[in-house]
Amino acid sequence: MQDLQSILDGAVSALSSIDNPALLEEVKARYLGKSGLLTERLKALGKLSPEARPAAGAEINRVKLAVEAALQARRDHIAAQQLERQLSAQALDVTLPGRGAGNGGLHPVTRTLARIREVFHSLGFDVADGPEIETDAYNFTALNIPENHPARAMHDTFYLDATHVLRTHTSPMQVRYLESRKPPVKVIVPGRVYRCDSDMTHTPMFHQVEGLWVDEAVTFSGLKGVLIDFMRRFFEQDQLKARFRPSFFPFTEPSAEMDIGCVICEGQGCRVCSHTGWLEVLGCGMVHPNVFAPLGIDSERHVGFAFGMGVERLAMLRYGVNDLRLFFDNDLRFLEQFR
Ligand code: PHE
Repeated sequence: MQDLQSILDGAVSALSSIDNPALLEEVKARYLGKSGLLTERLKALGKLSPEARPAAGAEINRVKLAVEAALQARRDHIAAQQLERQLSAQALDVTLPGRGAGNGGLHPVTRTLARIREVFHSLGFDVADGPEIETDAYNFTALNIPENHPARAMHDTFYLDATHVLRTHTSPMQVRYLESRKPPVKVIVPGRVYRCDSDMTHTPMFHQVEGLWVDEAVTFSGLKGVLIDFMRRFFEQDQLKARFRPSFFPFTEPSAEMDIGCVICEGQGCRVCSHTGWLEVLGCGMVHPNVFAPLGIDSERHVGFAFGMGVERLAMLRYGVNDLRLFFDNDLRFLEQFR
């Protein structure tokens, strides 16, 4: 009996320090396994006198049950500990302030493009778009800029191979658009263009919006009217001044550049307008007969005007941005101001 009590005490004290299930199984085997301490005692019962057997058997069973109960208690304890550890490892502090999902916004160039589209839409223009990879035939030749003509040097062209370029302007779309449609056409073509150039006011990629109106009674004064109207609406200045200076583009004749009164200083003179009070905003002119002829358009019957404006230039003036490259640095501190 003395012996059994110390077996039980030994088991309880062994279990008290165990905190992993594998060791627990070892202890179980040591006491209750095939040749465990208590199993051995049960086997030895046969050697006792018949009178002593029942009491001894009952006592062994009591100890066996007590060991089993202690094992189960420890098993539960380990499981509870494990759960506790898991819960605290996966704990979420619901009182922590959130990271905050910042609101996105449209890029200033995208907003400017949307605004340009909107104004021209209200003036009755359709919208089209065309490929950024062009053949030099469309980018130059079809626009009355023959091979080896010095006018090709007006653009710092990215050549992809002998015949393909990244378009240097949206004007090739004048030709593409008229290839698949008969006049009258009245369309704008916004899109990316590329020139090998980079400084405060030039980036290798920028956006233009081409405009083309071909019909039987299109006039240069009509061109002026549309463009002045556009600029006044775009800048929300009813009295905005404008002037047209003679210029040269191989694909328009006559050609002009349009200036508007400086929207920054309102004509007083500032750095943006180089103290002239005027800002150059686009190139334009009447479509050259040499552009129409290969398209089968009779210049005696149809006339057209075209214009091309730089989108970033307009965005800079509208938002008062002084470095063009800011538009493409993707600095959130800059972009967030346009939300
Ligand atoms: N394509 C010319 C440029 O990029 C602009 C232009 C377009 C001029 C249409 C006249 C007519 O400089």
